[in-house]
Amino acid sequence: MLGAAGLGIAGAGLVALPGCGVYAAEDGEAFAAWEFPGGERIPERVVARAALLGASPHNTQPWGVAISPAAVELRARFDRNLGTMDGLRRELHIGLGCAVENMAIAAAAVGRAATVALLPDPTDPALVARVALTPATARPSALFDAIPNRHTNRGPYLDGAAAPGLEAALRGLQDERSLEFHWLDSLGERARFRQETIDATEAITGDADMSRDSDRWYRHTAEEIVANRDGTSIDAAGLGASERTLGKAGARPSEESANTYWLDATRTRHTTGSAFAILSSTTESTRVDQLRVGRVYQRMHLWATSQGLGMQPLNQLAERQDREEAQKLEPRFTRALASFVGSGRRAQMLFRIGYPWERAFASARRPLEWVLS
Ligand SMILES: Cc1cc2nc3c(=O)[nH]c(=O)nc-3n(C[C@H](O)[C@H](O)[C@H](O)COP(=O)(O)O)c2cc1C
Repeated sequence: MLGAAGLGIAGAGLVALPGCGVYAAEDGEAFAAWEFPGGERIPERVVARAALLGASPHNTQPWGVAISPAAVELRARFDRNLGTMDGLRRELHIGLGCAVENMAIAAAAVGRAATVALLPDPTDPALVARVALTPATARPSALFDAIPNRHTNRGPYLDGAAAPGLEAALRGLQDERSLEFHWLDSLGERARFRQETIDATEAITGDADMSRDSDRWYRHTAEEIVANRDGTSIDAAGLGASERTLGKAGARPSEESANTYWLDATRTRHTTGSAFAILSSTTESTRVDQLRVGRVYQRMHLWATSQGLGMQPLNQLAERQDREEAQKLEPRFTRALASFVGSGRRAQMLFRIGYPWERAFASARRPLEWVLS
């Protein structure tokens, strides 16, 4: 079992290693942001705090916020990027779009009509969105209620068919004309997506730069989690209780064993579920397209959460596509993606959906005070 966990643990006797120790999931200051909206009564602060709970690549949280009663502005933190794992900064912008969607949903729930302007100032690419707020009747929603419960679920899902109506329900949430939603639920499509994703994972783990840049965002100890309040962790990995405990007790896994673990998890857990899905844009792939993809993805994940469904982005193919473009490599995975979305489209966000066996845990968040600008 320990080998399968791939956490580089030789045995449970390693508990006493310096810098290691078992800690509780979702405990302490690093997770306080999830008490949402908690006691917060000021509408624009609820809107800003909702932004912090969006999904983001490797939990980089590449954002800052500026608050006034009339508007909340979301700014990109380009320094919080994934390096060669996201060489074209596609994922960074999708993550910012996720934050924008949470802001719009929260505004409606706390009695503010939100007018969202994406990239409103062409001379300032860091000003990602201005969400103008005007008083309106409060419209609470199931999506708002789902904001603090939405967590990426990397555990096993039931390998059965999707419930009738699931595809249509998700399609109904996609209201951006420049985007398309691709649904892969036949056995053949699922098997092909699964194998291509495993191959792309292998390509990433065999790429020293991507592997290093991914590993930089892994937080192993409770101290690292509370100091950074970002990144990925054992509790977010979708492991069972005993694997999580043993993983925390052991030393930080080497980059190599983390890669082995990831590849193994991709084969065994991450490719289970009822369907894979892809959000695509035109091949122009503008920043606004990417922000819109983020908005739609976040909306779908919130809705899935409200229905007890699990979701997990699986972007290895798109990460390799971007790498191929940046490095002028043979377009192996670019072609694979085109076979799913058509050659006139660009795959932006890939994910799986299904019925999970276990609940997912929250990942750390930086508090509002750390991101105010
Ligand atoms: C653009 C984007 C790409 C992502 N790609 C992956 C991925 O390939 N695999 C994965 O397990 N999670 C992926 N995620 C999920 C993030 O790692 C996750 O949102 C982040 O760690 C915060 O956790 P949370 O979603 O549970 O709040 C992605 C998220 C975004 C926004």
